[in-house]
Amino acid sequence: MIFTLFGCVAPGVVADTGSVPPETAADTATAGPIPLPFPPAAVDLDATEGRVWFALSAQSATHDIGGTELAGYGYDGVAPGPVLRARVGDEVTVELHNALDTPTTLHWHGMSVPNEMDGVERVQTPIPPGAGFTYTFTATHAGTFWVHPHVDTARQVDLGLYAAVVVTEPTEPQADHDVVLVFDAWGEAESGVGAADDHTPPDPRTQVWTVNGAVSPVWTLEPAQSVRARLLNASNTSYLSLSWPGARLLATDQGLSASPAAVEALVLAPGDRAEVEVLASGGTVEVSTAMWSPAGGASYGEPRTLLTVVGGEDGPEPLAFVFSGAAPSIDPGRTDLLYTFSGGAPDEDWLINGEAWPDVTAANVELEADVIIEVRNLSATSHPFHLHGHRFEVLSVGGVASPARRFEDTVDVPIRSTLRLRMTADNPGQWLVHCHLLGHEEGGMMTELVVE
Ligand code: C2O
Ligand code: CU
Repeated sequence: MIFTLFGCVAPGVVADTGSVPPETAADTATAGPIPLPFPPAAVDLDATEGRVWFALSAQSATHDIGGTELAGYGYDGVAPGPVLRARVGDEVTVELHNALDTPTTLHWHGMSVPNEMDGVERVQTPIPPGAGFTYTFTATHAGTFWVHPHVDTARQVDLGLYAAVVVTEPTEPQADHDVVLVFDAWGEAESGVGAADDHTPPDPRTQVWTVNGAVSPVWTLEPAQSVRARLLNASNTSYLSLSWPGARLLATDQGLSASPAAVEALVLAPGDRAEVEVLASGGTVEVSTAMWSPAGGASYGEPRTLLTVVGGEDGPEPLAFVFSGAAPSIDPGRTDLLYTFSGGAPDEDWLINGEAWPDVTAANVELEADVIIEVRNLSATSHPFHLHGHRFEVLSVGGVASPARRFEDTVDVPIRSTLRLRMTADNPGQWLVHCHLLGHEEGGMMTELVVE
């Protein structure tokens, strides 16, 4: 093969790289645009139809953040970790080996797994160093989910333990490229890159964002191919307000939207996901984030480019998704569960209903109940509301009904606003309800919902 290449390439081209001394070659490599990397695909170890079997190792890793080397963690040594893919209905088995020097677990964020597979300390003793645990569940819904530890969460996620989980509906149109874009922010605390932030909102001006681990990468599309990109904000505390000219929004956390929308000022809170179809053609578009802060939304500073997408001559063909166009459910007006978010003043805990984890009063709902949830934010920052083991419909935000039916498991609650949600309590067990700003979660902003 190599001889064939030599035979085809013009002599000057080979000499160009061949004559460069090694030091200069390294400099050139870091100075040029970085091609967008993609996390590896986890290898399915079970060939049986309807079953997938993955093995993952939580281990130490070195991350190169725009040229700065950081000692961190990673699943199989990389951040983002390998993408776990399954189809709706598949029996999923994931063997985790803990090669860290500290206990860990896997939490299936957004997935309706059985309670004992949720990876939280109420239902599982954290896996000690050197030991393993096998998670098994059925993939019940299509969507873009993720997996991360739920013990020592802020520190372990911040150091790089996160991976996307993609569940596909075989009846949906298949894109030529179905990819994952994981966003993470580094330098979220004053102590610098790699440290978890507790109470200080991050300064949007000084953060370094990575896409699949790379700073400001360039993604060169192949001509005339369809592209579905699954976005995940895996940062501990940092919001994105994304704009992607030419792309259309296909889905939020829990599968296809009722109708497609432009990707403009798309707020992705920590833990949030969205799916977009890339339709830009004949040029270059910049995927950017507006400066956005949990302490007040829009922030000072110019938008920042996170990713450059270079389209071909021949743009991608749109995929024929079927959008239901359904309006949100009618809000019945009653409230079954009320969550009030407050606290966070200096030396004060972050609170839900006036209580700080673990000294909380669990709420109870009946299995299969139709539950209307109201979330009120009385504090001076936004909070991404997250509920384990269930999906919910967003009825309204701040009294404004959702423009179309949408299902989420993580949704931002802006300052001084009220959210109305509806869910079917279809998964029995003890489930955590918390803010997905991981410093807030560890600062007390977590409670429990019992479905029985
Ligand atoms: Cu992604 Cu309880 O978390
Ligand atoms: Cu919060």
